[in-house]
Amino acid sequence: MRTPIFGGNWKMHKTVKEAIHTVEDLKEEIGNIEEVEVVVFPPFTALNAVKAVLKETQIGLGAQNMYWEEKGAYTGEISPLMLLEAGCRYVILGHSERRGYFGETNLRINKKLKAALELGFVPLVCVGEKLEERRKGKAKGVVATQLRECLEKVNSPEVQRLVIAYEPVWAIGTGETATPQQAQEMHRLIRDILLELLGEELAASIRIQYGGSVKPENIKDLMRQPDIDGALVGGASLQARSFARIIRYKNKNSLRNI
Ligand code: PGA
Repeated sequence: MRTPIFGGNWKMHKTVKEAIHTVEDLKEEIGNIEEVEVVVFPPFTALNAVKAVLKETQIGLGAQNMYWEEKGAYTGEISPLMLLEAGCRYVILGHSERRGYFGETNLRINKKLKAALELGFVPLVCVGEKLEERRKGKAKGVVATQLRECLEKVNSPEVQRLVIAYEPVWAIGTGETATPQQAQEMHRLIRDILLELLGEELAASIRIQYGGSVKPENIKDLMRQPDIDGALVGGASLQARSFARIIRYKNKNSLRNI
């Protein structure tokens, strides 16, 4: 049984004050929800303040990126130890915006992943094809290569904590979601590659999230797919109300205000 995991990726949004308000509201909206795992990914500057609000809740705290070295002359980077100290247990690695705007490569993601696993994080490794790649029929090949290169020589027992986020670049922030069938097809492919790389047991237990314009209106159909184990949510996680409706996708009451 894979516990569904929902991440709220706030990207470069929210001052400390706004972040505090959002998690206070989120706490209230979702209460003590137990059957799913919920994590928020605020900007670095708000981590400490959000950690304080999340104390004694089930909501986890994560970072949107990290460097693989623990300390040193790396101006502008953030170390895994600093993130642990700030209360993070989760970290997003290789988001398509990092790949696209900041030159993140599979090799770098691989180094970050190894450091993250070693230090006890739950890493969310993002993969996904661009629109031209899908149009040219290359989506599967692109995602397979990303996954293989990001997971190169990652075989410690800690890999069981790994989460993969399939996020087609053309669906991120565009309002266009992959259909549940398109998403399932890619999630199946990812699980098959995990099987080949890590064996049956791990492939069956590693969670694969979908990301890309997830909203309260489309989450239910996505979650019906056998290999979709949660969502990484950008825009719709900025408001506690809509993020909570996504998290409570099973609960009829969450549809009350649609
Ligand atoms: P979106 O972003 O939900 O705004 O499309 C998803 C993501 O980038 O993780």
